[in-house]
Amino acid sequence: MRNKVSIIGGGMTGSTTAHWLAEREIADIVLVDIVEGMPQGKALDLQQAMPVIGKDVSIIGTNDYDATTDSDIIVITAGLPRKPGMSRDDLLTVNAEIVSKATLETIKRSPNAIYIILTNPLDAMAYLAMKLSNLSPERVVGQAGILDSARMRTFVAAEVGVSVENVHCYVLGGHGDEMVPLTRHSNVAGTSLREVISAERLEAIVNRTRKGGGEIVSLLKTGSAYYAPSVAVAQMVDAILKDKHLIIPASAYMRGEYDLTGIYFGVPVQLGRQGIEKIVIYDLDREEREALARSAEAVKQTTDALRNLLKI
Ligand SMILES: NC(=O)c1ccc[n+]([C@@H]2O[C@H](COP(=O)([O-])OP(=O)(O)OC[C@H]3O[C@@H](n4cnc5c(N)ncnc54)[C@H](O)[C@@H]3O)[C@@H](O)[C@H]2O)c1
Repeated sequence: MRNKVSIIGGGMTGSTTAHWLAEREIADIVLVDIVEGMPQGKALDLQQAMPVIGKDVSIIGTNDYDATTDSDIIVITAGLPRKPGMSRDDLLTVNAEIVSKATLETIKRSPNAIYIILTNPLDAMAYLAMKLSNLSPERVVGQAGILDSARMRTFVAAEVGVSVENVHCYVLGGHGDEMVPLTRHSNVAGTSLREVISAERLEAIVNRTRKGGGEIVSLLKTGSAYYAPSVAVAQMVDAILKDKHLIIPASAYMRGEYDLTGIYFGVPVQLGRQGIEKIVIYDLDREEREALARSAEAVKQTTDALRNLLKI
């Protein structure tokens, strides 16, 4: 049996996720969107790229959820992206409706799927998908941490002048400007960032990481980042389908971990074929714990607003 990944939302992040996944040749792909012709056209175009890169992958574009039946993984990217000046939370009302529909339409056709959520506001939308699908929280995970950490890795590698492969960064917390780049745990080939970068430069990198999404929104003006977010999703799909037990930062449902309960929040998780196998607990100092608590408060407010909006 070939693996099947359905991507709901065929816009910039959805179609780019299809692209990165097709290159990995790990699953057949279904791309669903409400715009007529668009997912069909993108899928056909991508399908015609396969002979050139020598990959045997089936890519279907459709407006009909029936094609998603029996998916191993559902990726939800449907919904509006930010415009310049907007916060991710400003998207709550409109995207809650879209993510609700995407979840309900897919879960009845793929009751055994694992969900990866990308739509913003990310932590609240992951919570919504978990609630509406009625899946156990291990099977619903939000993508944020790989992206935020990759942004930080990019800036650190450029600052220090080493390969991105030598740079390991861990950004936890909610997917908003209160996210928490952990400079003490992040390192260049095993040496803590605090020893290789001056405090002043490190603070600048932390701030640029926190506002990394907004920087791209203000440059693009008509949408938000998509290459890096979608390759992050592809890495998560890969970890799940290959049962890699990969530890990455991602948004997971909190049941007492890090003293948090009842919200989705960015923490280190171990991903495998059953979804989230484990939440890894880092040893945090007081400053780091306080920063996470501030970030959690912001996520809690958005999640409470969602609960009030949909009475869930
Ligand atoms: N978590 C992250 O790291 C991250 C990163 C980038 C973008 N995002 C979020 O992902 C979402 C998508 O971003 P994008 O850049 O792909 O936007 P986009 O506008 O390019 O694509 C969104 C697509 O969703 C489709 N859509 C809308 N309603 C739908 C429905 N009911 N069913 C199916 N499809 C529907 C639209 O037609 C559009 O094609 C946004 O909410 C954005 O903020 C999250």
